[in-house]
Amino acid sequence: MTTLTTEPLASLIERLYTQASAATSPMLNSVSGEERERLMHSKTEYLKLYEMLKDLWLPVSRDTGKLLYMLARNIKAKAIVEFGTSFGMSALHLAAALRDNGGGVLIGSEFELSKVEMARHHFVEGGVSDLVAIRQGDALVTLASDLPESIDLLLLDGAKALYGDVLSLVEKHLKPGALVVADNTDYCPEYLAYVRAPQNGYLSVPFADDIELSMRLG
Ligand SMILES: C[S@@+](CC[C@H](N)C(=O)[O-])C[C@H]1O[C@@H](n2cnc3c(N)ncnc32)[C@H](O)[C@@H]1O
Repeated sequence: MTTLTTEPLASLIERLYTQASAATSPMLNSVSGEERERLMHSKTEYLKLYEMLKDLWLPVSRDTGKLLYMLARNIKAKAIVEFGTSFGMSALHLAAALRDNGGGVLIGSEFELSKVEMARHHFVEGGVSDLVAIRQGDALVTLASDLPESIDLLLLDGAKALYGDVLSLVEKHLKPGALVVADNTDYCPEYLAYVRAPQNGYLSVPFADDIELSMRLG
């Protein structure tokens, strides 16, 4: 039995995915598809984009959630950092892995206060709030200091154009063999070029669901 597949987390995750799929964003619907694409690639206008997306959950897929749990279990992760927590779906899976690994810490990051509050509520409901610390604000600031000395897993799921910048904040803390999971990497050609270039110290492969899975070399 695992924390992920037993109560209270199993039913909570099921319920939250249902809630997530029903959420809508009238603000986003007023913007053209081209403008959305432009904002997704922008390094300077991500606040504008995510302000429009603040009612949407944008969770990792169910399969990606399970994959995160499996990876974190497999490497016996104790310290995890997440860029882009939203309402906490990926964090619930990662926190379940920490619990089943015997404890640890997940540092989340999210600039939208209403999302942080709901995510914290979900962590309490799921019985994992003792394992998760979300830093509210722009991750470029909140993840720039006070990180665990040795990090086992980094999830990149915030503004797509910032994946490289966030990785550079966390990189020196990644222990040999640490995993970096980046979601929606179709939007991140520069990030992909970086982690795939052998001289930068990663082994990196594209994975299911538009994920890039990279391992920090020793
Ligand atoms: C795709 S969602 C994350 C989904 C989450 N990982 C999950 O599975 O539930 C991206 C989130 O990142 C947040 N975000 C984007 N850029 C950010 C930044 N620079 N700092 C903090 N949060 C950011 C957005 O507000 C949004 O809620």
